[in-house]
Amino acid sequence: MVILGLESTCDETSVGIVEDGVKIISNIVASSALMHKKYGGIVPEVAAREQVRVMIPTIEEAFKGPGIKYLDVDAIAVASGPGLIGSLLIGVETAKALAIAWNKPLIWVNHLVGHVYANWLNGRDVEFPLIALIVSGGHTDLIFMKDHRSVKWLGGTKDDAAGEVFDKVARLLGLPYPGGPQIETAAAKFTGKTKVVFPRPMKGSGDFDFSFSGLKTAVSNFIKENLSTDKNAVSFAFEEAICDVLVSKTISAAKEFDVKSIVVGGGVSANLRLRKMIENKSAGTFKIHFPERSMSVDNGAMIASAAFFQKSYIDPSELVADSSLYFV
Ligand code: KG4
Ligand code: ZN
Repeated sequence: MVILGLESTCDETSVGIVEDGVKIISNIVASSALMHKKYGGIVPEVAAREQVRVMIPTIEEAFKGPGIKYLDVDAIAVASGPGLIGSLLIGVETAKALAIAWNKPLIWVNHLVGHVYANWLNGRDVEFPLIALIVSGGHTDLIFMKDHRSVKWLGGTKDDAAGEVFDKVARLLGLPYPGGPQIETAAAKFTGKTKVVFPRPMKGSGDFDFSFSGLKTAVSNFIKENLSTDKNAVSFAFEEAICDVLVSKTISAAKEFDVKSIVVGGGVSANLRLRKMIENKSAGTFKIHFPERSMSVDNGAMIASAAFFQKSYIDPSELVADSSLYFV
């Protein structure tokens, strides 16, 4: 089954064509990140206007080359939420129009669940039951999945999302947007022994919730009080603190639910420190899955994969963009 997946929940416009949920036929990502760089963050109106402009060319581009025609696809899938409403509307309305014009079934996908399915791409076999840690610019969530269609939300952030804190700390250090990769690069350059230790909020709270705004404030206060501190040392200590909390809670959830696999998805899952720490701390008890680094960030292929496995069909007249869509 060949599915066309559209992703336009935030600042990316992406179109993927995937066969049977695992084989990427094509995956095109058009990002407006450079446009947001000068504002230090995403400007929703700028993102949506750019998406209107690039959506159709991105679809055309996805069909160029792979030897597949529009009517060869078996279904159209779209991330219908959560996200920025202006951005979501573009993907959702385009998907509905294509489903009607090409007379193909329409499948809606929760964008966050899409991040989990980036782990199935390129033929990887992920075993259930599993715990998924979703860490993106807008979300930090832990979910338990017994199978493809049973998703139980365990907890999430009470304030800032993990990616958001990476971006804000980068900004405090004068590093450009998006901050996650910048912090990662700066932290990797640090070779000394740091005396800076930042707090690990809610690490021992006994639940699966997170809170990162206190960590952000601690970094901010530290920078104000130690103006000459090396950016690399601060990046290292911050990255260590946030990864420590994310990894501890994920492993606690995996133990409590006695799962076979841990799956990580979302933009922050590209982070190599997070990848190493989770491998080390789980000490072979669980099978750990990360997407290919290029598939950690928003993309259409992961939406097409989730659509294949979850098959949430919907009539085009009933699908609405839902900016606050959560786990159902
Ligand atoms: O999933 P995503 O592409 O978009 C949302 O759905 O939000 O995630 C974007 C977030 C940004 O906050 C970005 O700074 C972060 O992912 N990110 C990283 C890395 N690459 C992207 N954070 C830490 N380390 C990275 N290597
Ligand atoms: Zn995302």
